[in-house]
Amino acid sequence: MTTTQPLTDQQFLQRLAEQAGKDGTKTFAVTSPATGQTVVDVADCNADHARDAVERSVKAFDNWRKVNPYERSRLLLAWYDAIMAHQDAIGKIISAEMGKPVSEARGEVAYAAAFVQFYGEEAKRIRGETFSSQFSHKRLYAERMPVGPVYAITPWNFPAAMITRKVAPALAAGCTAIVKPAAQSPLTAVFLAYLWEQVGGPADALSVLTTRDARGVSEVMFDDVRIRKLTFTGSTSVGRSLYAQAAKTLKKVSLELGGHAPFLIFDDADLDLAVNEVIACKFRNAGQTCVCTNRVYVQKGIADAFTQKLVERVAELKVGDPANDATEIGPLVDAAGLEKVQSHVKDAVNKGAQLHIGGNANELYYEPTVLTDVRAGMQILEEETFGPVAPIILFDTEEEAIHQANDTPYGLAAYMYTNDLRRMHRVSEALEYGIVGVNDGGPSAAQAPFGGIKDSGLGREGGHWGLDEFLEVKYVSVGLREPA
Ligand code: SIN
Repeated sequence: MTTTQPLTDQQFLQRLAEQAGKDGTKTFAVTSPATGQTVVDVADCNADHARDAVERSVKAFDNWRKVNPYERSRLLLAWYDAIMAHQDAIGKIISAEMGKPVSEARGEVAYAAAFVQFYGEEAKRIRGETFSSQFSHKRLYAERMPVGPVYAITPWNFPAAMITRKVAPALAAGCTAIVKPAAQSPLTAVFLAYLWEQVGGPADALSVLTTRDARGVSEVMFDDVRIRKLTFTGSTSVGRSLYAQAAKTLKKVSLELGGHAPFLIFDDADLDLAVNEVIACKFRNAGQTCVCTNRVYVQKGIADAFTQKLVERVAELKVGDPANDATEIGPLVDAAGLEKVQSHVKDAVNKGAQLHIGGNANELYYEPTVLTDVRAGMQILEEETFGPVAPIILFDTEEEAIHQANDTPYGLAAYMYTNDLRRMHRVSEALEYGIVGVNDGGPSAAQAPFGGIKDSGLGREGGHWGLDEFLEVKYVSVGLREPA
């Protein structure tokens, strides 16, 4: 690392402010959802910038793919150190640009860095295979090669972790990456790319295009056959459209899309622990998380006790300025996000749901909310709310709970709470989801596979599965016949 002292968030913003618009590129303002004030202006890249980024990425790929894996590993681990040295500064930037409470944002930085560390280690472990031939003069093997330059479209809700979860395995595999972060929270991406360069990472191996013209920039990527892979985290509807566009140039695709996670609480569960896990799962990032529970199914025998305890805990959640260390729930990211949450709660209440706590908004802050008497036909049971609302639905039997949990086009994450080992296996096997948390409302980890089935996407991020997404298999057959 060339910087001796880590940058503060203010020094980083100062650098951005000095650079903005200097080369004639238009800029746009990144605003804080907490204050409505501009945090800083950044470049508003267009199709020309995208074309330039492709040229640079393609050229860089030619070198980066040949860099020894031990050197790729060294650079990634140095990047990990740099990110952790800037944990506080990056956490403050995340908090400023998208409203995540700063203590949670620091946690996201550690989570994001864990992907860089994990793939820094994995870079050295990319292995091939030898296998036998039916012909004794032949030797056969399969080796792994990087897929090529990658286009990564990342969401606003995890401005650090969703970048490193894609870019770290890409770089470890020998791919180069062009990242288009969400327009609501592009600053963290710029910060991460800056640190990559600071530790000696080749600049063009990782480019960031901040833009409000997602369509214009993406079109360049989809039309260019040299971009060999699309990796995307975001909504199912956008993912579906990107999948179709990526088909034009037959790119490899990973899609991490929406979820509608059920959380099943059986009457043998330890109620206090179950309430804690539901709080952690539901109210993390103010409910703006693909894997947070959207439907809390509670067995009838414990429903009243569970609801009371949940409401008591929700009442204790500290809503407020995300820059304060004690804050647990910050603002929603923008007016569209707020509108969706409000419309889901209104629809549920109009159709007979009971509001136990919450239900009000103040600017972009939405009170943590608990609803009961939630039934089929309410929007909240069908669409991702992406807000701090816990709808409780009652059930009688295990079969009924499983049926309701699976009755959705989504298949990202599901959770359950039980003390019965046999039930744990039965239910976990029956749940049609990519991730199941058993007595665990936060199963995400750098070394574990993350991803969904059905409308929740394609492919996996994290662990060795996440690295495979950036590797192709090359089969080599060697004939050893001697000349006659
Ligand atoms: C997401 O919301 O997609 C990310 C959540 C996680 O990694 O746990």
